[in-house]
Amino acid sequence: MVNEKVLERSSREYDFTQHEFAKIQKLIYEHAGISLSSTKQNMVYSRLARRLRAHGLSSFNEYLCLLEKGDEVEWEAFTNSLTTNLTAFFREAHHFPILEQHVLQSKGQRKPEEHHSLVPDQYAQLRKDRHKIHLWCSAASTGEEPYSMAMAMVKAFKTFTPPVHILATDLDTNVLAKAQQGVYSMGRLEKLPNDMLKQFFLKGNGRNAGSAKVRQELRDMITFRQLNLLDEAWPIRGPFEAIFCRNVMIYFDKTTQNNILKKFAPLLASDGLLFAGHSESFQYAENLFKLRAKTVYELANRQKV
Ligand SMILES: C[S@@+](CC[C@H](N)C(=O)[O-])C[C@H]1O[C@@H](n2cnc3c(N)ncnc32)[C@H](O)[C@@H]1O
Repeated sequence: MVNEKVLERSSREYDFTQHEFAKIQKLIYEHAGISLSSTKQNMVYSRLARRLRAHGLSSFNEYLCLLEKGDEVEWEAFTNSLTTNLTAFFREAHHFPILEQHVLQSKGQRKPEEHHSLVPDQYAQLRKDRHKIHLWCSAASTGEEPYSMAMAMVKAFKTFTPPVHILATDLDTNVLAKAQQGVYSMGRLEKLPNDMLKQFFLKGNGRNAGSAKVRQELRDMITFRQLNLLDEAWPIRGPFEAIFCRNVMIYFDKTTQNNILKKFAPLLASDGLLFAGHSESFQYAENLFKLRAKTVYELANRQKV
């Protein structure tokens, strides 16, 4: 195309046209709800150029053809390449004491049969866990968030086996694999106080020096599963005492956010809490949620949604 601007052609291994970028914006929006602004062109180029190299392709056009053919493996790699996975242990730390207090209160009030959050392939296991409090971390990334929730539960119940199950989901299969391993470089852990490091991690030796593994008891509290928040049907049943949906809605437009909020509402226990990221506000969805504390929401209608 005569008018089509080729992005920074001179310094790049591959041509990357506006048209190709626009196609990628559309594909990832439709598949994952992620709205990529035009400022993300360079990021998209560098992340996807790796995929072109991996396939020995010579142009973005060829790569787009591969995706359009519906190559499932490549769709997964494409999606994984375009997610942003920034996270940290006890990010937005004020949420964790609120969660602790909330589950202790709920535990006192709830009848056992009210706890039955299940994912179908785990019915058998989780049915045994009906007496448990169920929490959902819906954008778990590399695991720091669900493990922080698990640590908060150990602290709240003063035992390494609290009556809590955490479902941790994310769209990105690479980060979920990392989360499941529960191994972190010491750099990722440097902000954790020493007593927590000692309590919750096993330091690596020899080949594993410089990293630490989350204790098995924490890992046992969590089930990791892939889940696309954009999917029409989620294989999940509530109620959850709390849903963490932090720092992912910012990638979605309002319509997408609102559709997700509509599906969160019936999955929360009537007094359940929804935790949002620091720059996310759901106050526009006042028919569904109302603000309880800073970036913490409760159901607008706590009896019936
Ligand atoms: C910036 S991280 C936030 C991680 C964590 N919640 C936190 O606040 O530290 C955003 C996560 O959302 C995930 N994500 C993006 N789109 C998603 C979708 N459609 N469904 C589920 N997870 C998605 C990404 O893979 C990424 O791991």
